[in-house]
Amino acid sequence: MQNYQHYINGTWVEPSSGEWFDTANPYTGEAWAKIAHGSPADVETAVSAAKAAFENGWADMKPTQRGRLLYKLADLIERDAAHLAEIEVRDNGKLIAEMSGQTKYMAEWYRYYGGLADKVEGAVIPTDKPGIFNFTRYEPLGVIGMITPWNSPLLLLAWKLAAALAAGNTAVIKPSEFTSASTLEFMKLFQEAGFPDGVVNTVSGFGVDVGAALVAHKDVSKIAFTGSDLSGQKIYESAAKTLKHISLELGGKSPNIVFEDADIEAAVMGAISGIFAATGQTCIAGSRLLLQRSIHDRFVERLVEVAKTATIGDPMSPDTHVGPVTTPPQYRKVLDYIEIAKQEGANCVLGGHSYSGPGAQGGQFVEPTIFTGVNNAMRIAQEEVFGPVLAVIPFDGEEDAIAIGNDVDFGLAAGVWTQDIGRAIRMSEKLRVGTVWINTYRAVSFASPFGGFKRSGIGRESGLDAIKEYMQVKSVWIAQETSVTNPFIMR
Ligand code: NAI
Ligand code: MG
Repeated sequence: MQNYQHYINGTWVEPSSGEWFDTANPYTGEAWAKIAHGSPADVETAVSAAKAAFENGWADMKPTQRGRLLYKLADLIERDAAHLAEIEVRDNGKLIAEMSGQTKYMAEWYRYYGGLADKVEGAVIPTDKPGIFNFTRYEPLGVIGMITPWNSPLLLLAWKLAAALAAGNTAVIKPSEFTSASTLEFMKLFQEAGFPDGVVNTVSGFGVDVGAALVAHKDVSKIAFTGSDLSGQKIYESAAKTLKHISLELGGKSPNIVFEDADIEAAVMGAISGIFAATGQTCIAGSRLLLQRSIHDRFVERLVEVAKTATIGDPMSPDTHVGPVTTPPQYRKVLDYIEIAKQEGANCVLGGHSYSGPGAQGGQFVEPTIFTGVNNAMRIAQEEVFGPVLAVIPFDGEEDAIAIGNDVDFGLAAGVWTQDIGRAIRMSEKLRVGTVWINTYRAVSFASPFGGFKRSGIGRESGLDAIKEYMQVKSVWIAQETSVTNPFIMR
């Protein structure tokens, strides 16, 4: 089996504990690599390397230079995209078609922020003070701790790292204990691209020791996190002790809302893409399907008909639509929620069980599952399942759709299917979510801000503004002539 060491200060480092843990292939259930089991001591080494790299030149390097390194990295990512995608699939069981798309596309984040690195401008402020010139400058925060989940390890890292590096920060990354291999493999490209030692570091391990130590470290200026709302909340609480900056991307319970005037066939595909793509393991899953009552029955009939044809099996096969669930706890969680929905009285019209039919291997598979007769107060409508389980909820008109759509603690995204442009605009205004898709679903780009309202998180990733999440503004005052003023009053 291959061993993956920590990457600290430009070199491969053995875990100081001398301990390793296995990472498994969700499709076969078998361990395929050994990962360095990090400890707070390893975090200490990595943070001091990142701090030194920040102070010894990275922050002061001309932004154009930092941008060039990011371009170079983007080229190397494209060269190695297929290789990185294979590692992702081996470790998280998502489809090769999706992961090769992601690993290729993530190069664009490094390019976009590489280009942005030298375009962040301060301002000359027209103050009311005579004889004093005032301007602002944007400066990096310092060492950024990045904690990522297992569903799209490299892409979700790119959303943080590209902006943070362009802004002049350095990084210590803690990938998910279930999928550390791709991030460690990715570190080779920083070496090859010529990033100075210590600018990017990865310490693998668990949330309780490595993650928590990173969050608690006084020399870490910000934590950028993607994962569950409960872990996000703990991290926020702990980060408060050292008054860190924070960005949290915490998942959702997104409504995919279909009006009777929609293109039904397109909306059926949108509903499927919302919940069965990536085996439902995406923060933006359209896990609540809101159907206008007049089309409810025929929509469900067509949805079941199409969903039935999804091929379950080997994520490395280009013909597979639904792969395994990534982690054993996640597998149990999805099956538990299916039981909960049944007990709550929801009506299971498709799936509803684990799957061990053709193509299942030793993997932890769950059938694509659809519940109708759900009311929005049920747990299946309120809590994030993070699996291929859809809750169908009827509604009666725009007001009703908005009320139900917003009646959850989360607010990450929403889909709206309608041919009426006025309605589309009204819905986009009234839905309390960070992203609204009209007549499409699951579109994301490096250029468009992404993040959550309410319990879905704090801060935005991607787009022009996101670079400022990794910077702070400084106000500089210069007296044009020295003059003696009364020192006991404010100027
Ligand atoms: P998690 O939120 O516990 O883990 C995400 C990352 O945070 C991992 O790297 C983990 O090691 C780290 N972590 C956990 N607790 C920490 C702590 N106290 N301090 C510092 N770091 C910590 O998510 P998990 O257990 O992998 O999945 C559980 C649920 O989270 C899923 O069922 C799903 O509902 C949700 N989830 C949401 C994601 C999203 O994209 N928003 C991604 C993955 C999971
Ligand atoms: Mg794994």
